[in-house]
Amino acid sequence: MQTFQLLPRKSVLLGITLVAFFVVLFRLYGDVPVEYYRNLSPDEGALPDVQVQNDKPQPGYFKAQPEWDWKVPPRARGWEGYAKSPRNRDVVVLTASDGGGHNSAIPNVLQRVLGDRKNYCDKHGYTNLWLNTSRYDIGAAHRTWSKIPAVAEAFYLYPEAEWVWLIDTDIIIMTPEYDLVEQILSPNAIKRGLMRGTPILDGQLKKNPTNISTPDEFRVEDIDILITQDHQSVNTGSTFFRRTAFTRYLLEIMTDYKMLMGSEHPGAEQDALKHLMLEHPLVRKHVGIYPQRKFNAYVQGGDNMGYRDGDLLVHFAGCWVGGKCQEWFEQFWEKKGHTDKWRPEGSQ
Ligand SMILES: *[C@@H]1O[C@H](CO)[C@@H](O)[C@H](O)[C@H]1NC(C)=O
Ligand SMILES: *[C@@H]1O[C@H](CO)[C@@H](O)[C@H](O)[C@H]1NC(C)=O
Repeated sequence: MQTFQLLPRKSVLLGITLVAFFVVLFRLYGDVPVEYYRNLSPDEGALPDVQVQNDKPQPGYFKAQPEWDWKVPPRARGWEGYAKSPRNRDVVVLTASDGGGHNSAIPNVLQRVLGDRKNYCDKHGYTNLWLNTSRYDIGAAHRTWSKIPAVAEAFYLYPEAEWVWLIDTDIIIMTPEYDLVEQILSPNAIKRGLMRGTPILDGQLKKNPTNISTPDEFRVEDIDILITQDHQSVNTGSTFFRRTAFTRYLLEIMTDYKMLMGSEHPGAEQDALKHLMLEHPLVRKHVGIYPQRKFNAYVQGGDNMGYRDGDLLVHFAGCWVGGKCQEWFEQFWEKKGHTDKWRPEGSQ
């Protein structure tokens, strides 16, 4: 009698467990291929350290260096693209800098932000990388172009790295808990977060409309570069690049010396990317634009642009115009990781 009563309950439980198992399996299936789990070892640490040659110049013109032949896995070579969440260790946080330029107004800025980024990477298992941009021979082009060879070298040095996050030196990570994969890089985040039908800017919208917008519909599989734009233009101060054939091709084209890199563009590599986006539907299809504060909040600005509590980072873009870099930097440095109410939405 007792067994008879227990049996249906058991099968109900078993049934629920099975259904739950398949729900979870199918939810994950869209995101992550099975091979991912096969390669996942239980103690997943950061990628092994690589030999970085930061202290000596490269032996010749940058484009002739072996790093431009960085490899792309078969799934990332074709037109169909692919969508999956990267492992944390396959996210490289790249500081491409020689510590000079406008940023040298802030004492020890490079050492300080590198130490801080190391802690951030250790906390999440990302890979922290600094590349000395003085090493690249980029001819007579403006020095900010040297961020692009650094991206190529990052992919080359870490053959497994799937995403390279290029961030300028004048950026402080304000929310160390922030999960890049969940919030920015996962197929779900991209699907939910990218701006659709948003004008792509070339100067102020009212004065100089381009009449070109981001697509209304896109495939997550196609998105290889993630960027934000401020009130005037896309901004390369904080940009994510995915290891795909498209990315490699775009980096090569951006650095075409005759047509782009060697020409006088006030915004250097940023103008090149903007130009390629405005000119080519194919490029727009592969470059996703997130709302600015997602990963490029500025030190000043309204609720669309300026840092507000909880934002991932603050970027001191243009701080040198008013000579405020050091003052602002110290103010935010004191506040990194803060949880109090400091700059809420609606503040100035
Ligand atoms: C960066 O590279 C330049 C050129 O190779 C070199 O002179 C400089 O010492 C390097 N900086 C550091 C901190 O290693
Ligand atoms: C955008 O559209 C406006 C209004 O039709 C026009 O005046 C302007 O020249 C266009 N801009 C470009 C870059 O095509």
